[in-house]
Amino acid sequence: MTDTEITHLSAEPVAFPAGFVWGAASASYQIEGATTEDGRGPSVWDTFAHTPGAILGGDTGDVACDHYHRYREDVGLLADLGATHYRFSLAWPRLQPGGRGPLNEAGVGFYDRLIDELLARDVRPWVTLYHWDLPQELEDAGGWPERDTAHRFADYAAAVYARLADRVENWTTLNEPWCAAYLGYASGVHAPGRREPAASVSAAHHLMLGHGLAIQAMRAHDASRSFGVTVNLYPVDPAGDSDAGRDAARRIDALMNRQFLDPMLRGAYPADLLRDLAEVTGSGHILEGDTQVIAQPLDFLGVNYYSRHVVRAGDGPRQAPDAASAWPASNDVEFVSRGLPATEMGWEIDPQGLYDVLSRVHREYGPMPLYVTENGAAFADEIGPDGEIADPARVAYLDSHFRVAARAIQDGIDLRGYFVWALTDNFEWAWGYSRRFGLVYLDYATQRRIPKQSARWLAQVTRRNGL
Ligand code: FCB
Repeated sequence: MTDTEITHLSAEPVAFPAGFVWGAASASYQIEGATTEDGRGPSVWDTFAHTPGAILGGDTGDVACDHYHRYREDVGLLADLGATHYRFSLAWPRLQPGGRGPLNEAGVGFYDRLIDELLARDVRPWVTLYHWDLPQELEDAGGWPERDTAHRFADYAAAVYARLADRVENWTTLNEPWCAAYLGYASGVHAPGRREPAASVSAAHHLMLGHGLAIQAMRAHDASRSFGVTVNLYPVDPAGDSDAGRDAARRIDALMNRQFLDPMLRGAYPADLLRDLAEVTGSGHILEGDTQVIAQPLDFLGVNYYSRHVVRAGDGPRQAPDAASAWPASNDVEFVSRGLPATEMGWEIDPQGLYDVLSRVHREYGPMPLYVTENGAAFADEIGPDGEIADPARVAYLDSHFRVAARAIQDGIDLRGYFVWALTDNFEWAWGYSRRFGLVYLDYATQRRIPKQSARWLAQVTRRNGL
């Protein structure tokens, strides 16, 4: 299929507002490799990936996309996409190998080079401070269930900010605290692989506390930059029309969405969540004044969107994929498939859900600058006989979600930008290299990058600022 043969898309033209941010996203452990170079310390993901059985196929991030050495080429790919911005994360263990103390100058040097290269190609950096690679030494001291980790994170954020904020406007504290807390400490399918429901609840709290403390510390140094956080949001619907089903949806919505939105945007936990969680853990980890620290004024909210959850009350073992056992206090909930077309992750494709989460934030938490900081799809891409990678399903996926984003803007939602996950195929956590989300194909044997059809399509979208 050639680019001119993309005929299955709506022909209805769509324009985005002037100045709309277009980008692609990545995360340090998923792409960098070079895990023992230039003084980088081990992270929980190094340890976890090297644990037999933890990652599909025994894959690790040791080499990944070798971005540490090939960042120039990757920045060139971003420039070819017409990206205005690049969302990437800083590897805490590269910058502060043991999670505390002075910065590792070689680590700072890498991000200096990356940022300078981006700016030279007219792509602005959008930094995430924490995309799950906690220094192993901090995990050895207890990890996120320990309150001290929040303070270590704020120290790290302030130190790095002092060095990079001259060239970086947008600072995101956390990526998806739900995943970090519950996949890491409840279901154990992510690093550090612990299965401790009570600890997972305090991990969620301390991640948010770290977010608040970090913003305070960065603003104290220089308040001129923009600060935000990225959460993964899902619409959660009951499968049928029963009180038990509606209550199941309420519980999952509280755990996944409101647990994070309410403290960070309103300064208080939802009362129903605290009641549900009292079954699992007390609230002893929440100290007086914490929610005020957590509720720092934000300049933007990043929303990652992939799918919708439909749930019903159940009493058997949980049915959902890996996240299934990550629901403290919700072992009576089943996740229901609607039989919709799904991506290679098994995630049902539901563009309207993007509208639903954006409009929910706008309506219930008040208008604020929103960015889709991740959206994208894994498909089983293959190099064709012509050496090209035709990925019409990814093009259709993105086209349908972009149209929904444009409709949200027309309806008055302050959506200012969109980052596609991901720039290149990469280490997809527990799925290793088996799932390909990239706009650019990665031939892992040679490290050759091959832009997919979707990359060329996206370049047209960004240059037109529309569809
Ligand atoms: C998100 C993660 C990102 C990537 C996508 C597919 O939950 O933030 O790193 O793995 O899912």
